[in-house]
Amino acid sequence: MMQELILRRPDDWHLHLRDGAMLQGVLPETARHFARAIVMPNLVPPVVTAAQAAAYRARILVALPEGAVFEPLMTLYLTEATDPADVAAAHASGLVKAVKLYPAGATTNSHGGVRDIEKIRHVLEKMAEIGLPLCVHGEVTTPEVDIFDREAVFIDTVLDPLRRATPGLRVVMEHITTEEGVAYARAGGPDLGATITTHHLIINRNHILVGGIKPHYYCLPVAKREKHRLALRAAATSGDAAFFLGTDSAPHVDALKEHACGCAGCFTATNTMPLLAHVFEEEGALARLEAFASLNGPAFYRLPVNTAPMRLVKHEMAQTFPDKILTEAGPVTVFDPGFPVHWQVEA
Ligand code: DOR
Ligand code: ZN
Repeated sequence: MMQELILRRPDDWHLHLRDGAMLQGVLPETARHFARAIVMPNLVPPVVTAAQAAAYRARILVALPEGAVFEPLMTLYLTEATDPADVAAAHASGLVKAVKLYPAGATTNSHGGVRDIEKIRHVLEKMAEIGLPLCVHGEVTTPEVDIFDREAVFIDTVLDPLRRATPGLRVVMEHITTEEGVAYARAGGPDLGATITTHHLIINRNHILVGGIKPHYYCLPVAKREKHRLALRAAATSGDAAFFLGTDSAPHVDALKEHACGCAGCFTATNTMPLLAHVFEEEGALARLEAFASLNGPAFYRLPVNTAPMRLVKHEMAQTFPDKILTEAGPVTVFDPGFPVHWQVEA
């Protein structure tokens, strides 16, 4: 029996596209299915100013395949030297849709991020005034704090004080991975949203570590215990407007993933929508996939929803997806969910 699901074309509210040969190789994977994406600014060097964001946007548009309809939504990388006037102008012109806070040292190319929240207070106040969302990588970097506790500690010691000190600031908790993250986002009211990745709905920490170390399942924030994965599934499939899709699809070439000091990131741009259909069907929530992937994000970002449709079809036969995307920078392994997937995106 063939089953189908029609939804509005989805958007990806957290995506890494990189630059140069990698951008060229991975952009078609996202543009094939997604209408828009919030593009992360952690390039080398990072996208710090409005001028850099405009130049990066132009490079993305040039890299788009012929005929693709895809809109990159640009972000700025917040530093202790960020100029609030530059941020406000970038927002007013429509160029920039969010500013990204990386605690210094928390993840890939975050060393230029923020060490002292006091030093960005004036930028946050300007953002609250103009309604520009702050996307937050929510992990403390304190060496004493266990890596599996870094999100929960961040919420209590950084995020909650920051939000209380800056009324009106609109915040997206990026790629939440814990039941504490779910609970905080759920209770945060209309100025707080949270993205959830595809892979955190599928793997827990056992997938990374049991039976041999699996570098392609290593990402940041690292996947947690099973109870947290279940909390994320409940949140994503609830329809609650606070939760929306941000894949955090983060390509690294295989040589840097399969390495003594492997890079963090799961590459899910290629198969995210079929995987989400599988997950939502398992949860008896197929009817709420559209809210998660296509409606709640635009509502938070105050952007129109997409009108073009996407058609997902469930086949008798398990579907095949490429193992790797071959880019000029090197091969990038596509996230393997570890189970057969019968859903496919079709024209
Ligand atoms: O796994 C991750 N990869 N988490 C991040 O926060 C950054 C990303 C990347 O840029 O590779
Ligand atoms: Zn990310």
